[in-house]
Amino acid sequence: MSDTLAALDQLKADILKANTCPELAETATQLVMGHGNSNADIVFIGEAPGKNEDLQGIPFVGAAGKFLDEMLAEAKLVRSDIYITNIVKYRPPSNRDPKPEEKRAFWPFLVRELQIIKPKLIVTLGRHSMEYFLPNAKISLAHGQPKRVVFGDTKLVIMPLYHPAAAIYNRDLKQTLLDDFAGVPSVMTQLKTA
Ligand code: URA
Repeated sequence: MSDTLAALDQLKADILKANTCPELAETATQLVMGHGNSNADIVFIGEAPGKNEDLQGIPFVGAAGKFLDEMLAEAKLVRSDIYITNIVKYRPPSNRDPKPEEKRAFWPFLVRELQIIKPKLIVTLGRHSMEYFLPNAKISLAHGQPKRVVFGDTKLVIMPLYHPAAAIYNRDLKQTLLDDFAGVPSVMTQLKTA
């Protein structure tokens, strides 16, 4: 097993050992860890698993995931090119929004996950994952605009996008998300050649 995969396994073991969000753990089927290419330059971060993710143990496999796959395909990307994870790694009951204390409890583990993957670009999906990287940003203004940030001891770029689940049933938001998503490959190219 590669060092990266071993570190991700250890991360999962540590989340379980720390008894992170025991109330969520009780109602959820399982912990849903990140998925995809652990050597990826680009990481997508959502909010929390939904029903299908909870059952299958993989992020973004439900309706929002299908829409995400379509946008990835437009950008000539597939899941195995990227790594995808959530800030909160247990399904909140009835898909309610994750609570601030749940996001806080999982945040140090997300930081470790990113230290393991070492992406150049982080695409946040929805405001819950954006708020930790761009604390003063409003998604209605910040969406689609890449921002350079210093994260720990590394410099990387955050690209905040609307959450695909919010855009599925809202035509205007959907078009905005499609337009923003179309900018992802050129940000990646700039970062690779920088
Ligand atoms: N929405 C999310 O934020 N994450 C998932 O894994 C699925 C839906």
